Amino acid sequence: MNLHHELSSQTKNLDTILVLDFGSQYTQLIARRIRELDVFSLILPWDISKDKIIALNPKGIILSGGPESVTQKNTPRIPEIIFDLDIPILGICYGMQTLAEQFGGQVTSSKTKEFGHASIKIEQTSILFEELNSGTSLDVWMSHGDHVSTLPDNFNLIASTPSAPIAAMEHSNMPIYALQFHPEVSHTEEGNTIIKNFVFKICQCNAQWKMSNLIDQRILDIKQKVGDQKVLLGLSGGVDSSVTAMLLDRAIGKNLICMFVDNGLLRKNEAEDVESLFKEKLDLNLLVIDAKKIFHRHLRGISDPEQKRKVIGRTFIDIFDNESAKLKDEINFLAQGTIYPDVIESSESESKEARVIKSHHNVGGLPDDMKMELVEPLRDLFKDEVRKMGAELGLPLEMLQRHPFPGPGLGVRILGEITPEKVTTLQNADAIFIEELIKANLYHEVSQAFCAYLPVKSVGVVGDERRYADVIAIRAVETVDFMTATWAKLPYEFLAHVSNRIVNEIEEISRVVYDISSKPPATIEWE
Ligand code: XMP
Repeated sequence: MNLHHELSSQTKNLDTILVLDFGSQYTQLIARRIRELDVFSLILPWDISKDKIIALNPKGIILSGGPESVTQKNTPRIPEIIFDLDIPILGICYGMQTLAEQFGGQVTSSKTKEFGHASIKIEQTSILFEELNSGTSLDVWMSHGDHVSTLPDNFNLIASTPSAPIAAMEHSNMPIYALQFHPEVSHTEEGNTIIKNFVFKICQCNAQWKMSNLIDQRILDIKQKVGDQKVLLGLSGGVDSSVTAMLLDRAIGKNLICMFVDNGLLRKNEAEDVESLFKEKLDLNLLVIDAKKIFHRHLRGISDPEQKRKVIGRTFIDIFDNESAKLKDEINFLAQGTIYPDVIESSESESKEARVIKSHHNVGGLPDDMKMELVEPLRDLFKDEVRKMGAELGLPLEMLQRHPFPGPGLGVRILGEITPEKVTTLQNADAIFIEELIKANLYHEVSQAFCAYLPVKSVGVVGDERRYADVIAIRAVETVDFMTATWAKLPYEFLAHVSNRIVNEIEEISRVVYDISSKPPATIEWE
């Protein structure tokens, strides 16, 4: 089953821009830019079948960039079918090069790759460049090794740069356009105007992708699918499962059963906070399972990081399974907060059936004997759309804008054996760090911040006493996609203050260090 193509009944009828993915790091950004214009956009692998393209009935197709070179054999090509559909096409970077090659032009590999800013000169008027405030030159973002060296027949040059004389082109009688630079990247001056021109002027899309409509539509969808049957949701307190809970609550009320498992590896007061928000304040049907003892018993004596992850994952599934079996009601559906980046297929996935599954070990998948149908109302939404939806559904902003927290929780932040005492120490240190970040208005300046527990004894002097105790590492990173990250340059005075508080207030700690490793080579978590 290709889950990707299961569009909700409503999105099927929306004006859609299809983004064919040739593997660029910016592909998701293209779709997000279009959705920011309130137009629905979907990413599919470049080798998608003809039938699927036709079934989607897109108003326009964007061909993304990609890491390959069209000068090499067996590299991706545009499915010829799209040229017969008479749908507007916009090729970006690799998308432009393969367009050029498939229409008989020439692409040349440059000795030097061009990454970064370039100034392009607009050579000829084009709908794509209408209403640019900057006149006939634009500062754009380039990221390429190859360039189009000879225009294909029937294509006109519309823009150039000194290093890429054919920086943009358009077909003389078909709605086909191509750019060597990346309009989706914020460094491209007026990139949004170019995308807008394509989406509205060339593809004639209507702006139908609105959050308020979307919520009503999703609620209707859920009602239709579920009727008066019961739905079980594993609520973690994270953004995705919380927004899923709110949406289902609006659709089916008490027929939604939320299950929150306290695994004893959560942030300080997390279980209490989740209970007070969802049960007391929002009046959701919430079961809190206190499984701290079971998790800690299973984790006793284990220090290997992979082993710890496995035990945490397995224990979660066992408990979820057992607890749901205890429910008196018959449960027919399992809801999950899967979001779009979790399911976007890689460019080769159509052939290889590869799929990125929701970050590693969160819910771990369904036990085989749980015969429940999945409800995943956020499956086609980007994170910022999920946050927006959460805000409209009444979730507090602090919870929607919280840093990510890994599924195995503090289990990946305590090195060596995990004990309840170490968890408490780490929770206290982490709470100090986060509290201070918020106070200093630095929390939203970094993408993720936390403490890790290092079971390394070191000597310290606190007051008149020598203290031989463990170490806390402070970690704060800046990142866009969590695939790469740089350590945050937090002010020294701030770090000194946090360090003082931790050592003074937490007896079990004698020393604090700041992690100055970027990713790669280090990972964000310590494990
Ligand atoms: P690493 O440590 O791999 O982390 O650089 C990248 C991002 O992923 C988060 N992370 C996880 N998230 N389940 C999750 O839901 C996990 O098992 C897991 N492991 C790491 C990490 O917090 C960071 O944001």
